[in-house]
Amino acid sequence: MSNEGSPDPTEACASCLPRRSLLLGAVGAVAGFATTVVPDAAVAAPGRWTTLGPASDVPLGSGRFYALHGGAVRYVVTRPRRGEWRAFTGRCPHEGGNLRQFPPRQIQCDFHGSRFWFNNGHFISGPEPNIPDLKKYEVRVRSGSVQVR
Ligand code: FES
Repeated sequence: MSNEGSPDPTEACASCLPRRSLLLGAVGAVAGFATTVVPDAAVAAPGRWTTLGPASDVPLGSGRFYALHGGAVRYVVTRPRRGEWRAFTGRCPHEGGNLRQFPPRQIQCDFHGSRFWFNNGHFISGPEPNIPDLKKYEVRVRSGSVQVR
C-alpha cells in the first residue's frame, strides 16, 4: 500500500482553492492529508471485510484517510480512545468533497470547511446549517490490520 503525502490539487474545484489556502494558513497545526491508497486486489466484495492497512498507521486521538478504487471510494478511520475504533465515509455529505484534515477531535472537509466530530461523525459546522452526519461503517482490528465493511 502506498501513501499520498500531499494534497492532490486536481481533486479540488478551482473556486475552492482560495478558501482552502486560507484554511490551511489559518489552521497550520491541523493534521491531515495522510491518505493510504488501498490496492484494488485488497478490496473485498460488498458486505465482506476489506483490510485497509496496519492499525498502527492510525494515530490514537486522531485518524487516517483511505482511498479505494482510485479514490472513488473513501473511508476515514479514527481512534477516539485506546481500543475504540470508528469508520466513516471519507466523502463530505455537503457536496462530496474529500475529508482530509484532522483538527483536534474533528474531521474536516477541505472544500468548504465542514467539520464533524471524530468519535461519532456528527456534523458540527459548515457552509450550510443542516449538513447530514457522516455515514458510519463497521470497523475492526484483526491481526494488527484495520478492516471495514
Ligand atoms: S464539499 Fe462542501 S464542505 Fe465538504
